[in-house]
Amino acid sequence: MDEQEPSKVRNLKKLLKFVRPYQRRLTVAFAITVSLTAIQMTPPLLMKFIVDEIIVGGQWSLLEFFLFLTLVVPVTASGLRVLNTYTISVISHRLIMDIRQTMYRHMLSLSLRFYDQMGTGKIMSRVMGDVATVRSMVTMRMLSIVTDFVTFWVAIGLCLGLNWRLGTILIVLLPLYLFNYFGWRGGIRVSIRAWRAKMDRVSVGLQERLSGVQLVKAYGKERRENRAFAEETRGTFEQSMQTATYRAGYSAGVWAVSGLRNTIVFCMGCYFVIQGEMTYGGVMAFLAYAMRVFQPVLNLTQEALRFEQMMISVDRIYEVLDYEVDVVEKPDAPNLGPVAGAVEFEDVRFEYNEDEPVIKGVSLKIEPGEMVALVGQTGCGKTTLTSLLMRFYDVSDGAIRIDGHDIRDVRLRSLRTQIGQVLQDSVLFDASIRENLVYGNPDATEADIIAAARVGEIHEFIIRTADGYDTILGDEGIKLSVGEKQRLAIARAVLTDPGILILDEATSSLDSLSEALIQKAMANVLEGRTSFVIAHRLSTIVNADKIVVMDSGKIVEVGDHETLLEKPDGRYKELYEQQFAGAVEDVAAN
Ligand SMILES: Nc1ncnc2c1ncn2[C@@H]1O[C@H](COP(=O)(O)OP(=O)(O)OP(=O)(O)O)[C@@H](O)[C@H]1O
Ligand SMILES: [Mg+2]
Repeated sequence: MDEQEPSKVRNLKKLLKFVRPYQRRLTVAFAITVSLTAIQMTPPLLMKFIVDEIIVGGQWSLLEFFLFLTLVVPVTASGLRVLNTYTISVISHRLIMDIRQTMYRHMLSLSLRFYDQMGTGKIMSRVMGDVATVRSMVTMRMLSIVTDFVTFWVAIGLCLGLNWRLGTILIVLLPLYLFNYFGWRGGIRVSIRAWRAKMDRVSVGLQERLSGVQLVKAYGKERRENRAFAEETRGTFEQSMQTATYRAGYSAGVWAVSGLRNTIVFCMGCYFVIQGEMTYGGVMAFLAYAMRVFQPVLNLTQEALRFEQMMISVDRIYEVLDYEVDVVEKPDAPNLGPVAGAVEFEDVRFEYNEDEPVIKGVSLKIEPGEMVALVGQTGCGKTTLTSLLMRFYDVSDGAIRIDGHDIRDVRLRSLRTQIGQVLQDSVLFDASIRENLVYGNPDATEADIIAAARVGEIHEFIIRTADGYDTILGDEGIKLSVGEKQRLAIARAVLTDPGILILDEATSSLDSLSEALIQKAMANVLEGRTSFVIAHRLSTIVNADKIVVMDSGKIVEVGDHETLLEKPDGRYKELYEQQFAGAVEDVAAN
């Protein structure tokens, strides 16, 4: 706990950086709040004058003036309130906008390591939920804390001024509130925390079941999942009830202390009136102010709880903002010009997590225009090797060079635009086909787009859709098959005319037409480019200039199909016999 405190203070200080641009506006809001609070303190005093001077004292000539004041006060107060709400809204909404933009910018500058570690769900809840928590605390709540402080001190001063003895009794009663608060706080806190944890579990479970709904249905597990969900939600219900019980206890305590306060003030007030120490109006005003002494104390204790919650959110936000950029671009790094496509891996080592090496010393030289097939069992590091070439991660040791330039020495953007990538599972945005195609090259002409679509063997498909190139994909639009997605992704990669191409073949089985189309698309696209093909199809592998056989992070064999097959106990031969033996006739037939 003690270790965490300094980091909390540090984070809070850092958060103030976001508030600083709005200092002037906040000062204005602060001033308005103080004036508003002061104005709202006047009605009981006005009432006292009306009762004592006008009703009891019979000074009827003052009536009009006081009635006028009783009208002016609420009108002024509501005017100020509108102004305040507006000012605060502007500040708070800009604040969250600033924080979210800063987070997003930072996140996009981070390597994939960050996304591996944090996960989309956690990132989402930080960018959306935690930022919203901070917003309400930094602005709305900050001002209500100011209001409470001002109200408390002014009210206590007025009470003492109206009757110091009664005022002292009031102060003596205050600790009762605090006892009640601290008595219940522990229970409330623990049960809220437990409730949050249970809610987290419900939402994680819900997300899992929704995204896996196909699996649930396929195994006919609807009833089981229903039961599990019902049980989880019942858990949160029971937890909520526990919290509600504690809260009810706390409220009962508040009511008891307030009742005691009213009774004492009333009895003592009557006594003082009879003794001639207080006026009727004085007792009424005192009671009104007494309530205003207690309310801020209650509010502030509540705020203290909320403040803690906000600190948790601040910490979570800074988990993102403080995440160090690990793939760093050197200052003044030159652009990597259009590349010939010579690629060299020199004793490359890499690990995702410490002490769990994934790539264990890979050395490989590839000439411009060569087609390399990466083969090996699942999990041996093929995709990882291509991620390193894209510099999604930095190598832990060794170097990767393109045309002799270490990829860490050139501008990231220039490196990545030189490499086209078609992934195992192609990502397309919910936008039109055209927008998806030109994602990497927004300046592409209509002719370029169509040419690229032809290379990807997807043009024919596109023109058969309802709106052609303007057809919308995704949730709102048409859904594509795996093969269609991959052909679109190939066309998208072609449009940037990369010197190096990475194709991570879909492992899922495709129908034979899709398969043939992809084969053709790939043959079109590989021409004249250095390419890394992570191949599962024999027909692709056979055509490769170099077949690189990997096994748990190492290269075990390099050569072309014939050479490798001739090795008596070769790894490739073994793989080939395991996986492709049945497919040989197909290839021969093609
Ligand atoms: N983001 C990641 N974080 C941690 N470990 C990872 C990550 N991605 C992959 N790995 C691990 O690294 C190893 C290599 O994974 P990689 O994806 O490179 O395999 P692959 O050869 O492409 O397999 P496949 O043929 O199934 O696509 C695996 O053991 C995998 O568990
Ligand atoms: Mg892979």
